[in-house]
Amino acid sequence: MYKRSALSNVSRAKPFSVLSPLRAKSSPIVEENTTTKSKFEQLSPAQKAYLDRVIRVDQAGELGADYIYRGQIYVLSHKHPHLRPILDHMWKQEVHHRSTFNNLQLKHRTRPSLITPLWKLGATAMGVVPALLSPEAAMACTEAVETVIGNHYNEQLRCLANQFNVSKIDGSKDEPEEIKKLTDTIKEFRDQELEHLDTAIKNDSHMAVPYKLLTEGIKTVCKAAIWTAERV
Ligand SMILES: [Fe+2]
Ligand SMILES: [Fe+2]
Repeated sequence: MYKRSALSNVSRAKPFSVLSPLRAKSSPIVEENTTTKSKFEQLSPAQKAYLDRVIRVDQAGELGADYIYRGQIYVLSHKHPHLRPILDHMWKQEVHHRSTFNNLQLKHRTRPSLITPLWKLGATAMGVVPALLSPEAAMACTEAVETVIGNHYNEQLRCLANQFNVSKIDGSKDEPEEIKKLTDTIKEFRDQELEHLDTAIKNDSHMAVPYKLLTEGIKTVCKAAIWTAERV
């Protein structure tokens, strides 16, 4: 019954013949748009490619965050037990972020980053090494990582808001439901990353020695990792 109504809507729409070559090459994301009740036209190849990149890089980033907090917990929880609940809270949120993007990756059949083992190794080192220096250095690492991730999510939100006003078959324009859901997810996670950033500052990240070298070095590494994970 659902199929019949979707087909009847499409057959009334004249632009169908223009879109049909693209439909033939459609990805799972596009399939979903063509079968929703909202009757959105195809996403462009550039939009599809951008969504793939968003899911790939965010999944890799959240995987990295999971391993960073695991490394910090492993090193700090015995010597500094007062930090355990703070780290646990942030880590659990990262595990949720990671599993959300894992599910999105499966749902949209997005290729994972080809160097996922390297992300795991690098993120573990980024969690363990500063924590071995001092708890403040671990917090400086968190401050740097969450600053970069907060900005990264904000950039994605700007792009999703500006580039995904898709035409409907009735001629109006709106964001497809999938894009709205993804935007809400990224907003929620961005807010939690910024809470992690505040937590790091409250726990003396600025007292780390050498603060500037640590935070600027880690920010540079994170930006390079984001650039790479979007592409590889
Ligand atoms: Fe996260
Ligand atoms: Fe975070």
